[in-house]
Amino acid sequence: MIFNSEEETYNWAVEFGKSLKPGDMVALYGNLGAGKTVMSRGICKGLGFEGSVCSPTYTILHEYPNDPPLFHFDLYRLEPGAELYEVGFDHDYLSRGITLIEWPERLENQTADVTHKITIEIISENVRKATLELFDGARQK
Ligand SMILES: Nc1ncnc2c1ncn2[C@@H]1O[C@H](COP(=O)(O)OP(=O)(O)OP(=O)(O)O)[C@@H](O)[C@H]1O
Ligand SMILES: [Mg+2]
Repeated sequence: MIFNSEEETYNWAVEFGKSLKPGDMVALYGNLGAGKTVMSRGICKGLGFEGSVCSPTYTILHEYPNDPPLFHFDLYRLEPGAELYEVGFDHDYLSRGITLIEWPERLENQTADVTHKITIEIISENVRKATLELFDGARQK
C-alpha cells in the first residue's frame, strides 16, 4: 500500500482498527518518523478511543481506557536483554484488549503472540509504503 500523506495513513489505520478483536497484537515496524504512532492513533480511533494517543517512549506502555482496552507499547528504549514482564508484557493481561507495539525488534527472541505485522517504509517526506502480514495467532520467533 502507498500512503501519500499522514491523513491517508491515518484513515487506512482507522478502518484496519475496526477489524481488530481482543487478543490481537499488532507489531509496527519502521524507522524513526515512519508513522508507527500515526498508525497507532488511527487504530485506536477505529476501536472507538477518542482520547489522545502519543508515543509512549518514556513510559514504555500506555493503557488507554476503552472497551476493549488498548495497550500501546514503545520498546525503543528497552535495554537489551530486558525481560518483558518488567514492562507489563503479560500475555494473560494483554489478551483482554488490543496491543500495539512500536519497535517490536526489541522483543528479540522472546516470543509474543503477534497476530498482525505492519511494516512502514519511508519513500519520501510525505510518502510511505506499508505492508500488512497476518499471523493468525501464530507465534513469532
Ligand atoms: N504518508 C505519511 N504517513 C504517516 N506519517 C507521515 C506521512 N507523511 C509524513 N508523515 C509524518 O511523519 C511523521 C510520523 O511520525 P510518527 O511519530 O508516527 O513516527 P514513528 O514511526 O512513531 O516514530 P518513532 O519511532 O519516533 O516513534 C509525522 O510527523 C507525520 O506527519
Ligand atoms: Mg512513535
